[in-house]
Amino acid sequence: MATDLSRPAAEQGAATGFPTTRLRRLRQHPRLRDIVRENELRVDDLILPLFVRTGSGVRQPISSMPGHAQMTVDLLPGEIREIESLRIPAVILFGIPEHKDAVGSESWDDKAGIVQQAIRAIKEAAKSDLLVIVDLCFCEYTDHGHCGPISERTGRVDVDNDATLENLARQALSLARAGADMIAPSGMMDGMVGAIRQALDGEGFEHLPIMSYAAKYASAFYGPFRQAVESAPQFGDRRSYQMDPANSDEAMREVELDLVEGADIIMVKPAMAYGDIIRRVKDRFGVPVAAYNVSGEFAMVKAAAERGWIDEQRITLEILTGIKRAGADLILTYFAKDVSRWLQNAAS
Ligand code: PBG
Repeated sequence: MATDLSRPAAEQGAATGFPTTRLRRLRQHPRLRDIVRENELRVDDLILPLFVRTGSGVRQPISSMPGHAQMTVDLLPGEIREIESLRIPAVILFGIPEHKDAVGSESWDDKAGIVQQAIRAIKEAAKSDLLVIVDLCFCEYTDHGHCGPISERTGRVDVDNDATLENLARQALSLARAGADMIAPSGMMDGMVGAIRQALDGEGFEHLPIMSYAAKYASAFYGPFRQAVESAPQFGDRRSYQMDPANSDEAMREVELDLVEGADIIMVKPAMAYGDIIRRVKDRFGVPVAAYNVSGEFAMVKAAAERGWIDEQRITLEILTGIKRAGADLILTYFAKDVSRWLQNAAS
């Protein structure tokens, strides 16, 4: 058989088996393992979610997410100092508003909007060039807990897609004016990226990137988060807008549409049970891919570790490395602070 030098010999069925080839040769020495390592988890790839609430002096722990809390804006400067000292490059903000209503109008209030206030406070407190990313959605702001206004236009009580787009444009502009560095729409509305891009470009924010929750599944792994931001739907579920966990081709269509509409970074969510989706997106589109290691994934590790059933540090680093290996460039994770400490300890 002729040898094609452009392809590895092993792929062409060349005689490279045992005993000539012994893969253990490169595993026997720690430094050898280091130099051939294919994927490496870095703090620079991590985004830490933060929960901001109204009021002052309150740090309300989230019971199902140990170490995380709803925080009032006045506590943010201290929090940011810690995040900067851990060299975490980015945060993503979620807000728990004062008032909820049928459309979530507080989310686009320049002054009263809780995330708008948080952005301003962080920008003032930050000493480094910490990236402030904002989640863009309505479920935290609506009294019914759905990701947009409800209508019966389609004959069913459901989120009104196109009315939501108008409100998303409002919210995006308000957050951009407050100083957000990146907008991350998470509502899974059709056309959301295009609507936001158009609104931003129309007001001189054409430089502001969009990280789209493009392939976001209707997942039970969001349970602790919904408790954290008090956003559980008051009726029904989110299956008419979030994806069916059984689908993969559909995720490719979601991603393609978001890219056409102008998404800069594509997110897959959740992460652990969706490594195949991350890999398909990376291979097919070759764009920056983010993976969200969500609240339920975090809570499971914490709960088992608290019982002494697993080694929290090793399991977490393995999970996050697995997400990188699947093809994620960046990872949103509630473990960001821990990872930073662990990696620093390992290096020193
Ligand atoms: C929606 C949103 C959700 C999460 C991030 N953005 C919840 C949902 O869709 O119900 C979940 C994140 C997590 O579980 O960690 N704004």
